[in-house]
Amino acid sequence: MTSTHRAIRGRLVWFEDDPASVGDAAVRDIPDGLVLVADGRITAVGAWDELGRSLDPATPVDEHSGCLVMPGLIDTHIHYPQVQVIASYGAQLLDWLNRYTFVEEQKFADPSHAATHARFFLDELMRNGTTTAVVYCTVHPQSVDAFFAEAQSRRLRMLAGKVLMDRNAPAALTDTPETGYRDSKALIERWHGRDRLGYVVTPRFAITCSDAQLEAAGTLLREHPTCWMQTHLSENRDEIATTLGLFPWARDYTDVYDRFGLLGPRSLFGHCIHLSEREMARLSESGSIAALCPTSNLFIGSGLFDLARLRDPRRPVRVGLATDVGGGTSYSMLETAAEAYKVLQLQGQNLPALQGFYMKTLGNARALGLDHSIGRLAPGLEADLVVLDPEATPAMAHRMATIPGDLAETLFVLMTLGDDRAVRATYILGEPVQARD
Ligand code: GUN
Ligand code: ZN
Repeated sequence: MTSTHRAIRGRLVWFEDDPASVGDAAVRDIPDGLVLVADGRITAVGAWDELGRSLDPATPVDEHSGCLVMPGLIDTHIHYPQVQVIASYGAQLLDWLNRYTFVEEQKFADPSHAATHARFFLDELMRNGTTTAVVYCTVHPQSVDAFFAEAQSRRLRMLAGKVLMDRNAPAALTDTPETGYRDSKALIERWHGRDRLGYVVTPRFAITCSDAQLEAAGTLLREHPTCWMQTHLSENRDEIATTLGLFPWARDYTDVYDRFGLLGPRSLFGHCIHLSEREMARLSESGSIAALCPTSNLFIGSGLFDLARLRDPRRPVRVGLATDVGGGTSYSMLETAAEAYKVLQLQGQNLPALQGFYMKTLGNARALGLDHSIGRLAPGLEADLVVLDPEATPAMAHRMATIPGDLAETLFVLMTLGDDRAVRATYILGEPVQARD
């Protein structure tokens, strides 16, 4: 029997299923609860009254009275080399890429620059309670090494990949189908499945990838079926028109990726705003995942993600929630859910708080096929946790005075008014890595 190394006390909240399908039965809420951790894993979850009594007096208890203890938050689409692109003024997608993004990303050829920014990026995720993310690096393999080395030293569960891009970008940011394939393969061998790291084959998007490069991406996926795939799809109208000009044989944008075998249950497509019925049907059929990136879609002026249409029960598309920093304007998954709520409100839809919190915990874990490891509070799962304070700011505390304990309302205040200030603590494998007084 393993002895308990740490006990974390607070209001425990998590999801066992999707509240959109099973309603309130999906939610677990233990008002005064305890999570016990040994060797990085959760060993027990229950009420303080039950578990606290039998606790070895030598076990340290982290008290988070008044706070919610939840599974760590998960971000399904983010770019670590864009930490100095975030908040770049006045451009839509293609112009934004050329004016800002492709300029900054060139700096990641330098391994020490990459290491410095990987450290900053992961600090920022920890401050925001994001314990797992699906991350774009740059075209440079050294940017991937820097990221994974830093994530490994922090014992994080992170997914990432080298961007493949062989055209329509500055020469300093392009590879070739051959070097892209070779470098990705070497990175997969070096990092995929090592500790808690996973590799994501990452063709940037169709505009910057030749047919031969997309073919190579498909080959990598076939050769390494446990890797993930990520790219961008149907974000902006000029992007779509340019793509269809570059691939005149394609029926639509989704068909470009489909022809090269890039759709599937481990494939993540950022944005998915302007899709046709046929494209949604193909995404649904293939089990692909659409990443909803609301702060980015608003900031770059790309459009409104139509969640109800994507979720049409006749051909439901799996959906993840994501920040897309640096097109996105916040690292916080709380703020991201708040912006998703507003994007949906503009379309006569909404996002109940239970749904918002499900999406950034178990929902995103399921989207990544990682729900056996993360996303819930249950014995055996990895002890990546976030502690959220619903009274973190004067405005939140003042609003909370009207809410006597109701979970959905508390979560809605957290999601609407919360940001990194609401993150009281972040735990990685049961160890606190971030704590706010
Ligand atoms: N499409 C291709 N690259 C990018 C990127 O870096 N950010 C966003 N938002 N869209 C893209
Ligand atoms: Zn992106």
